[in-house]
This record gives sequence, C-alpha cells and structure tokens, in this order.
Amino acid sequence: MTRPLLVTGGAGFIGVNVVRRCLAAGIRVVNLDLLTYAGNRDSLAGVMDDPRHVFVQGDIRDRDLVARLLERHQPRAVLHLAAESHVDRSIDDAGAFLSTNVLGTHTLLEAALDHWRGLAEDRRHEFRFVHVSTDEVFGSLGSEGRFDETTRYDPRSPYAASKAGSDHIARAYRHTHGLPVIVTNCTNNYGPYQFPEKLIPTLILSALEGRKLPIYGRGENVRDWLYVEDHAAALVKVAADGRPGETYCLGGRAERTNLEVARVVSAALDRLSPRADGKPHAEAITCVPDRPGHDLRYAMDCAKAEAELGWRASMRFEDGIVATVGWYLDNRDWWQAIRRRGFAGERLGLARAAAP
Ligand SMILES: NC(=O)c1ccc[n+]([C@@H]2O[C@H](COP(=O)([O-])OP(=O)(O)OC[C@H]3O[C@@H](n4cnc5c(N)ncnc54)[C@H](O)[C@@H]3O)[C@@H](O)[C@H]2O)c1
Repeated sequence: MTRPLLVTGGAGFIGVNVVRRCLAAGIRVVNLDLLTYAGNRDSLAGVMDDPRHVFVQGDIRDRDLVARLLERHQPRAVLHLAAESHVDRSIDDAGAFLSTNVLGTHTLLEAALDHWRGLAEDRRHEFRFVHVSTDEVFGSLGSEGRFDETTRYDPRSPYAASKAGSDHIARAYRHTHGLPVIVTNCTNNYGPYQFPEKLIPTLILSALEGRKLPIYGRGENVRDWLYVEDHAAALVKVAADGRPGETYCLGGRAERTNLEVARVVSAALDRLSPRADGKPHAEAITCVPDRPGHDLRYAMDCAKAEAELGWRASMRFEDGIVATVGWYLDNRDWWQAIRRRGFAGERLGLARAAAP
C-alpha cells in the first residue's frame, strides 16, 4: 500500500474536497484538523469511517502531536491547508491569523524538517511539503494583467499578510534547510462544503432564506473563480509531480465581477429553486457597505501549472455554479446545522469601521 498524505485542514472547505479526491484515487490520508468554527465533521460524512482515512482533531501549532503523526504514519507528503481563511474576520481580529497561518506553518515546517532529516535516502528524496496559499498575497490588479509565479508580493489585508508570511517562511525552509517545499497560490474557490461566510454560499443561502443578496460596494471587484474539485485535483497532482522549490499558480480562467457572480447564482436559483412570487432572484441583489481596503481585481496566469503538471481547470463557471446551488439545495441539513451552531450569516469585517 502506498504511503499516505498528511493533510492539514482536511475538515475545511478545500481540505474536505482534497480528502475525498485522495480516497477516490486510492490514496490514504491522515487528516489533522483543529475543528475551528470553519472545520466541520459533517463534511466528512461517509469518509470518517473509511479505514484509509485517519482523522485527528488537533492543532498544527502542537509540535509534539505533528511529530508523532509524522513518525507513526510516515506520510509521503504533507499537504498543508489548515489556516484561518476569511478576510473579513482578519479585519475584525488578526491575532488568530498570525498565530495559525504564520506560527502554525512554522511549527509544521520545523516538525517536517526534523522528520525529513531522519528519513532514509529514498524516502527523503520522495518527501514533499506542499504549502497551499492564495493569490491575495500579490495585492490588487488594475483592469489589465494577471498574476504569475514571478509577481512581487504586496498583501493588503491582514489575512493576505499572514499568508504571505507563511509563504515566505515555507520558501525559506527550502532555501536554508533544503526541505522539499512547494508553494501553490490559488484564486477564489467555490463549490460544495464552503462555510457560508464566503460570497457564493452567502448569496445562495440568503436567497433560500428569503433575504437580500448582499454584494460589497458596487459589485465591481473581480475575482478569478476556481471550482474546488478542480483545485483538489491540482493539489493531488502537485503532491505527486510538483518540483521541490517551485511555485505553482492555480486558477480557473473565470474572471467575474461580484455583480456578475450574483447574477449567475440568481439565474441558477431561478432554474433550481424559483421564488414563490415568480420574480427573479436577481431582484434581491443589494449593494452593502464595501469591505475596508477591498482589492479591486485578482486574475491568474496558470500557464506553468498547466504545462508542467498537465492540469487544467475543467469546470465552466456557469456549470459549477449550477452544481454548487444544487449541492446546497440537496444538503440543507449540512448548512442548517451551521445556522443552529450560531452563524446566522451576519456581516463581518466592519467592527472597526463602527468605532469612532
Ligand atoms: N477558499 C479559497 O478560496 C482559497 C483560495 C486560495 C487559497 N486558499 C487557502 O487554502 C487553504 C484552505 O482554505 P479553505 O477555504 O478550505 O479554509 P477553511 O477556513 O474552510 O478551512 C480551514 C480548516 O483549517 C482548520 N484549522 C484552522 N486552524 C487550525 C489549526 N491551528 N490547526 C489545525 N487545523 C486548523 C479549520 O478547522 C478548517 O477545517 C487555506 O490555507 C487558504 O488560505 C483558500
């Protein structure tokens, strides 16, 4: 049996999709997740008892725990996704972002380095540490151009700054200590199992709950949208075939303004869950106060990942949105449990704006 992957954050949105993809491909997984507000056991329904999946509730900042897991399970690679991930929450309080994203990544790197150094030559040669990051580290684009692996870092939000810090420390462990680190920088993901604080599930659930569909500012901000299953496929490929020391930029080739996103979501809802009054869902789209420091545009050039890994996002944005709306309609229990645990869809990221 091949050696497993150690996936961190495998009860979060992208992590769950990665775990499911690995198991479907016959890859064993050790899943380390703290189960913060964003982690969700329910998302692992059906795979929790799979003997090829070992779930460990624990903290990436717990070095002894990480060391024990590396020693016991001898993973071929670490796929590091655990993070605080929501920009709006980082505006309200950046502390947890620095702690988990920067210091937690450092703890994981330290434990991985110790482990890697003690491996036999062939296993040391195979080992990979894949650090999963975001396009937000690159700052904001104007109406032209795209980010790529050579783009200068210019993070603007506390979230982006914490991810930039973690990227730098991960690369430093490659350059200084030789640890076979690979960094991926990815655009906005959407799809099944996304916590309903992010734009697309917020729009879907607002519509299903009969509320306004909020978009920040005038809805002009542009993001490149990647279907989460395409991202999961890319990460599994990077862990298998990525070259140590390299960065891979990943994206969906699907740039849309937030207003366009809201309209596509509304159209999918019109098809799959029409309003009782027969009116289009788009009628409920409403502009709300903008996010402080909201970056205007992100876009990604993924040519390197496509050429080297033979990977390309395959889901068309409009089809992915239909699939995503369908998933939230078919999985009401999943998101209604989140509502019962206390997240009602309230606006985040304006706490400081309200202060004098
Ligand atoms: N969602 C996106 O659009 C996107 C885009 C690019 C990059 N990323 C990156 O991908 C990764 C995963 O993002 P996501 O959207 O799945 O995030 P998420 O918030 O849905 O999940 C994060 C997971 O990490 C876990 N976690 C948090 N702190 C932890 C700790 N100290 N120890 C162990 N586990 C901990 C949480 O319980 C949760 O399950 C993050 O590193 C994020 O920065 C996300």
